[in-house]
Amino acid sequence: MAEITTTVALPAQGEALLELGGVTAGYGAGLILRGVDLTVNRGEIVCLIGPNGAGKSTVLKTVSGLLTAKDGFVRFAGNDLNRLSPRERLGLGIVHVPQDRSLFPGMTVWENVEMGAFVLNDRALVRRRLEEVTERFPIVGRRRTSLAGSLSGGEQKQVELARSLMLDPALILLDEPSIGLDPKSRTAVFASIAQLTEDGRTVLLVEQNARSGLAVAHRGAVLEAGRVALTGAGSALLEDPEVGRLYLGASAAGKTPRLDAAAPAAAAP
Ligand SMILES: Nc1ncnc2c1ncn2[C@@H]1O[C@H](COP(=O)(O)OP(=O)(O)O)[C@@H](O)[C@H]1O
Ligand SMILES: [Mg+2]
Repeated sequence: MAEITTTVALPAQGEALLELGGVTAGYGAGLILRGVDLTVNRGEIVCLIGPNGAGKSTVLKTVSGLLTAKDGFVRFAGNDLNRLSPRERLGLGIVHVPQDRSLFPGMTVWENVEMGAFVLNDRALVRRRLEEVTERFPIVGRRRTSLAGSLSGGEQKQVELARSLMLDPALILLDEPSIGLDPKSRTAVFASIAQLTEDGRTVLLVEQNARSGLAVAHRGAVLEAGRVALTGAGSALLEDPEVGRLYLGASAAGKTPRLDAAAPAAAAP
């Protein structure tokens, strides 16, 4: 997939693509996000970590539009997202892969992947995308007629990633893609994530598995009490004693972290 489909002019590699400033949001009266500042540059994988319930999924929702920020700005390639519907944000090339399994279990793998292009009317384009996505994710071809519900959790996650590419997105929001997977499937999922940015795509990744998430990311950010408390290179956060103590398990504190062999090292964007 050489091109990225979007109706806006994307910034150059390494320039700011997604910008959140002073973002507040919540459900009902209570605020969960209390002034989130975060920038994701084009071509980067940024991994957002933080305790359970910190609001990581909520951040992704304010970007895809499932939730509207109450205050602050959310910009994509300089465009104000707050005023756009989820569908309009999809049209800009922003795709959200939610935390829970999202395939239709009673539909085939092929049908599920095709659903990723539901907003496209151009059949020839959809077919071409299916071919491209199948090349990138061979499981889509191998298991095309299998019911999605018959696949393992790891296989389903690969199919979800494949489906997310059907709109040829500029920005992919990934919520806990490795949750609940066995080690081998986790390794495969992180390897797939690393490849998503190969052609200039950008990924905002939320991970409980902070070690693998930061290892695959160019930069990381720590969400605490509704704000981004710390940002830095993924490798720098992995070596940060405080991050180690809180998110990487006590054994990592103050020591050189043992990188998850599973996760490919991030290259500069
Ligand atoms: N749909 C919802 N309605 C009400 N409260 C919610 C909803 N979704 C999440 N919350 C609350 O918002 C807080 C942050 O949730 P979330 O963003 O899912 O955290 P994280 O992804 O970091 O674990 C939690 O306290 C959670 O209970
Ligand atoms: Mg979450």
